[in-house]
Amino acid sequence: MGLRCTGVTPTSRLPSSGLRRPASRCCGASSSLRERAVTGSSWPGVRVEGLPVVIPQPTIRTERLMLRPFVRADAPHVLRLAGAREIADTTLTIPHPYLAGMAEQWIATHGDAWEQQDRGTFAITTETDGLIGAIGLHFRPAHRRAELGYWIGRPFWNRGFATEAARAVIRFGFETLELNRIHASHLTRNPASGRVLVKAGMQLEGILRQHVMKWDRPEDLAQYAILREWFLADSS
Ligand SMILES: CC(C)(COP(=O)(O)OP(=O)(O)OC[C@H]1O[C@@H](n2cnc3c(N)ncnc32)[C@H](O)[C@@H]1OP(=O)(O)O)[C@@H](O)C(=O)NCCC(=O)NCCS
Repeated sequence: MGLRCTGVTPTSRLPSSGLRRPASRCCGASSSLRERAVTGSSWPGVRVEGLPVVIPQPTIRTERLMLRPFVRADAPHVLRLAGAREIADTTLTIPHPYLAGMAEQWIATHGDAWEQQDRGTFAITTETDGLIGAIGLHFRPAHRRAELGYWIGRPFWNRGFATEAARAVIRFGFETLELNRIHASHLTRNPASGRVLVKAGMQLEGILRQHVMKWDRPEDLAQYAILREWFLADSS
């Protein structure tokens, strides 16, 4: 993942930190679930008598993967995998060096983030290797959209795992959460991520020139999206 090249950001900062939120997020982020229901900006498809019901974060199974909520015991594996420089290099909010304790702190934010309809983060696991990466959606319920983000540990690259996980999470976003749009972006010097997004059904919307600073250097960002109507048309 934002990473905002993605929402999957093992970071030492808590989600309430103003530093991590774009200004436009502030209003939605501070409203309670009840306020959101009143203003009609609750998570679609999960209302009961006018109040949103937060469904428990599910486990999603694919042919080779299990996408499940992170648990504290994943922390040493996050430290080992996300701590590699190659992971921080093409993402925007994964710290480097990745210090002891950061993974525990990041995982501890997931429960509230899910309940507040802010973020849904899944551990990408295989039967033989356990944790191999992370994938998540960063929600904007008022607009029924979410931003997709992900990373896969270096030893597991180029085996189709990111694509398989992205397809499953996109399906979950449209079918279960009833989102209308899912978008993602990547640094243009990271074409592997562009391939993942295209293989997962997204279309390139444009290049944002020098949109972000990465390690004090301006970088171009490629922006992709998939709409609910495209997804439904492809599934029928
Ligand atoms: C980007 C990333 C998630 C891809 O994960 P992955 O599991 O290797 O992805 P997949 O195997 O599903 O697909 C990778 C595709 O990129 C292609 N690819 C790999 N390196 C490439 C390169 N240098 N140029 C062009 N394509 C490349 C692969 O060939 C494959 O495409 P194909 O199936 O058409 O052959 C992984 O490299 C990663 O975690 N990188 C660091 C973190 C990151 O960049 N996250 C995304 C931020 S937007």
